[in-house]
Amino acid sequence: MSPARANPRPLFLHHAEQLLTLAGPPVPRRRADLDNLGIVHNGALLMAEGKIVAVGSTRDLRGEAQRRKARAIDCSGQVVMPGFVDSHTHLVFAGSRVDDYDERLRGRTYEEIAAAGGGIASSARLLRDASPRALIAQASAVLRQMAAHGTTTVEVKSGYGLDVVNEIKTLGVIRSLQKVSPLDLVPTLLAAHALPPEYRGQGGGAGAYIDLVCERLIPEAARHHLAEFVDCFCETIAFSLDDCRRVLTTGQKAGLVPRIHAEQLSATGAARLAVELNAASADHLDHLTTRDLRTLAQSNVAASLVPGANFHLGLRKYPRGRQLIKAGAVVVLATDFNPGTSPTLNMQFVLALACDAMRFTPAEAISAATINAAYSVRRHHLCGSLEPGKQADVAVMAVDDYRKIPYYFGVNHCVMAIKRGRVISPRTVTRITDFP
Ligand code: NIG
Ligand code: FE
Repeated sequence: MSPARANPRPLFLHHAEQLLTLAGPPVPRRRADLDNLGIVHNGALLMAEGKIVAVGSTRDLRGEAQRRKARAIDCSGQVVMPGFVDSHTHLVFAGSRVDDYDERLRGRTYEEIAAAGGGIASSARLLRDASPRALIAQASAVLRQMAAHGTTTVEVKSGYGLDVVNEIKTLGVIRSLQKVSPLDLVPTLLAAHALPPEYRGQGGGAGAYIDLVCERLIPEAARHHLAEFVDCFCETIAFSLDDCRRVLTTGQKAGLVPRIHAEQLSATGAARLAVELNAASADHLDHLTTRDLRTLAQSNVAASLVPGANFHLGLRKYPRGRQLIKAGAVVVLATDFNPGTSPTLNMQFVLALACDAMRFTPAEAISAATINAAYSVRRHHLCGSLEPGKQADVAVMAVDDYRKIPYYFGVNHCVMAIKRGRVISPRTVTRITDFP
């Protein structure tokens, strides 16, 4: 994959069965606005110099496209939409956790495996031993797959280094990936992901590790502009609410915007902390109390749902997505791509989970995975909708109705991904047609 470059020649997508502009109501979207995708039938999109020039009907845009000698691509029978913004991933890790997976299927829980030194700690052992080159190679392959599935912007967390050298190594890998991948990567420091093994027992405990995060890691990441966001895992098996408050406020003072893994395995009060600090997002939210649901819904903090984790952990319960929408929350959907709880990179599958397990409508799910996700990584002025002046970040899907993206679940409908006006992932897919 080569880095993002502007396409030298204008590009014209025409005759789209449905062009989902996601344009219109103020961002972030809430309630009924989530259900409105701003659809243009027989739609067209004109792009030049990496940006969107015009959006409208094929008839209205054809003349201008001809004048600009644009390369024309016929999208008959297809859906054209903004590229997905995957706003929560742990992209950089070494190896896999397929052994944990096998053990869980034999009856051990995620928490039991973590307590026995597996889980995040085992990924930390692998990452510490891996060279930056090996990490870049593994993550690059995933980024290519993400693009092939229609994702054009990806938030990427550190969090398997768990010491100064290896957390900074991970952030350096993200920076290197940005030089070789056309996708936009949004770096997040998640040093407070798990207590490193060397801090357990006589090793000083959580307090000593949080000192290291606040006194060394955050200043170093901020000084070298290696991260935009700071995250932490607030959980009984990870860090307390007070530890997380310290990490996030220290990050904030250094210019990093907070986001937080909240209420995933138990109710901790982390969602309320996110509101108190005006964080960008509170993520997971499986154990959100009704009171905190209301508080979160009334705030500007994105309620970021990652149902791939519930699916992969075999949980029967999913976060209360429907109630969050009803209460007015800024809902966002993401893969949470990681080796332990959610090894999926496919946003289309996440849409299906949101619809089937959390009762989102397909339109609500698409809004949550594009424009609201862009808001949660503070890039809604650049991406997440197809509007003149924005980056030309586009996915073309081989379906004639956007609702078929989650409906025909478990396959990749994306035939083309475009980043800043350049085709980065062409692919041939046989369109699934309805039975006659
Ligand atoms: O989002 N909850 C913490 N972090 C990840 C899991 C990381 C792992 O198990 O490797 C998550 O689920
Ligand atoms: Fe996560």
